[in-house]
Amino acid sequence: MPDPKPQLPRLTELSATAGCAAKIGQADLQRALAHLPVYEDPRLVVGHATSDDAAVYQLSDDVALVETVDIFTPIVDDPYDYGRIAAANALSDVYAMGARPISALSFIAWPMAERGPDELGDILRGAADVCRLANIVIAGGHSIVDKEPKFGLFVTGLSHPKAIVTNAGGRPGDVLVLTKPLGTGVLTTAVKRGVMPPEELRQAIESMASLNRAACEAMLAVGVQACTDVTGFGLLGHLGNVLRASSASRGQPVGARLHIDEIPWLDHAVDLAAENICPGGSRRNLEFAAPHVNFSSSIPEHMRLLMADAQTSGGLLIAVAPHKLDALLVELSHRDVAARAVIGELLAMDEPGAIAVI
Ligand code: CO
Ligand code: CO
Ligand code: CO
Repeated sequence: MPDPKPQLPRLTELSATAGCAAKIGQADLQRALAHLPVYEDPRLVVGHATSDDAAVYQLSDDVALVETVDIFTPIVDDPYDYGRIAAANALSDVYAMGARPISALSFIAWPMAERGPDELGDILRGAADVCRLANIVIAGGHSIVDKEPKFGLFVTGLSHPKAIVTNAGGRPGDVLVLTKPLGTGVLTTAVKRGVMPPEELRQAIESMASLNRAACEAMLAVGVQACTDVTGFGLLGHLGNVLRASSASRGQPVGARLHIDEIPWLDHAVDLAAENICPGGSRRNLEFAAPHVNFSSSIPEHMRLLMADAQTSGGLLIAVAPHKLDALLVELSHRDVAARAVIGELLAMDEPGAIAVI
């Protein structure tokens, strides 16, 4: 692959915030989404109301359509890796619903006059390579000229309506399993600020570019209560969505306890966070989550931030019934899923969405 022309800025220099850390904050998003009408079509099984990973539309008794879109600014400087990561991240929302992707469309915003088509080709090649691992192709797309690059996919998936795994099925007692280490927000920010050499990002890049397909197949083999993927709102934010959706569907408050020592981190993430390296999105995430989170007093501020660190293409966060936990861990291990960390459990709490971190 040819090096980018030397006079050009690095890809990540073209955007203020990178990857899923560029997501609009949950508080602002809630206010804006409140203007959408409440949907009444009973075949729209999952809509925006539960902040789930994808929309689910039931086509027939046996077939549900799963639809999602994820687009973001460059998270790394290498265009091929950027394409791989963006594709894995977009596909992840289909896997998080327990569905199988069938096709994708791409969206491209690109400074064509400044950078030309070659790097864009590398982005598409990266995305196509990851789509091949998901057994789908990019069937079409849409492109615009834009100073700030953006790339992502609209992904369509299929599932049996009864096999859909929403974020609303969590019950007190369920165990929480996480399938990728955290820290991509901190690590990519460290490279962007020049405090970590880009070579050190390899582990994070491979983690972000890897599909949640195997983890999805493992959870389908066992049968689980709820699932989401950990992306821009961080572990605390996405867990909060699971807890609120599960509380609403059960009609009783569901909370969680997280064991901070069990949470897997990417190499250097903890050290960099201790040096105050953290994307703005992660701080916003912690601010949004904080009123519902009770941290044990021994947990330092940088670890609290890490728990809210905005992830790009993070792992699946699965709530599984305790008697199925061992089976899930075996299925994950058979499929070589890198992380299979048991990080906490759901609890009956006084307040929906309350999280205790010990
Ligand atoms: Co998601
Ligand atoms: Co998404
Ligand atoms: Co068009």
